[in-house]
Amino acid sequence: MKKLLVIGIGAGNPDYITMQAVKALNLVDVFFLMDKGQSKDKLIDLRREICDRYITDRAYRFVQAQSPERERGDVDYKTSVDDLNLAKQLTFERLINEEMTDEQCAGFLVWGDPALYDSTIRILQAILASGRCVFEFEVIPGITSVQALAARHKVPLNRIGRSIEITTGRRLAAGQVSDADSLVVMLDAEDSYHQVADQDTEIYWGAYLGTPDEILVRGKLGEVADEIERVRKAARLANGWIMDTYLLRKP
Ligand SMILES: C[S@@+](CC[C@H](N)C(=O)[O-])C[C@H]1O[C@@H](n2cnc3c(N)ncnc32)[C@H](O)[C@@H]1O
Repeated sequence: MKKLLVIGIGAGNPDYITMQAVKALNLVDVFFLMDKGQSKDKLIDLRREICDRYITDRAYRFVQAQSPERERGDVDYKTSVDDLNLAKQLTFERLINEEMTDEQCAGFLVWGDPALYDSTIRILQAILASGRCVFEFEVIPGITSVQALAARHKVPLNRIGRSIEITTGRRLAAGQVSDADSLVVMLDAEDSYHQVADQDTEIYWGAYLGTPDEILVRGKLGEVADEIERVRKAARLANGWIMDTYLLRKP
């Protein structure tokens, strides 16, 4: 039976790797890397560096595949995500069918943790349900960007006994959030923190967490929102891409 390991590698710092992930890395014959274009080369390099650093006495190889892109612009968001996941499913099927033999073990190196805003598990479940490939798989958890953010700002995510909501910039901008007093926002391409009315809300913002390019800003929205927008724009321009996450805490 083919075996797949979905390995959470943490969100940026190679030291975020867990001992369980190191053991898993050392079982893998072939790593499937999804290439997201030139701007994300650094993310591919980090995966190679992790293998280099943690795999001892074992031959392994990489197979890089072009990651399908979501259609942007004037299209329904949900439809474009469904189409993207279908395209990814076909790519994964091809890799599993053509790039490994029955006795082999393949690894997907998932940024952060595979359970948080990542489609790898969902896609593998869909492939199994379709019956087009047969394999077993395991998931190895990793340190998420949310944990990295909290650690770097030295702040707990929740207030005592209270809830946390994790959401997307898109939902924040559309007002589709609960009244949880701690809100973590990911995948925000539009500076959606500007939509928050209460300017006394505290923001703990982090970009490129755990990497040498890391940037941290915190303060009341009324005082730092414009600074975050400025810093974010400049960093995005300098690096060609940005990954940022923030915690919003009601006053
Ligand atoms: C597709 S999600 C993947 C999340 C990932 N599975 C995790 O556990 O953090 C990508 C989003 O995660 C956040 N993110 C991931 N890595 C980050 C980092 N090193 N610094 C800041 N934000 C990060 C950003 O909000 C980014 O838009």
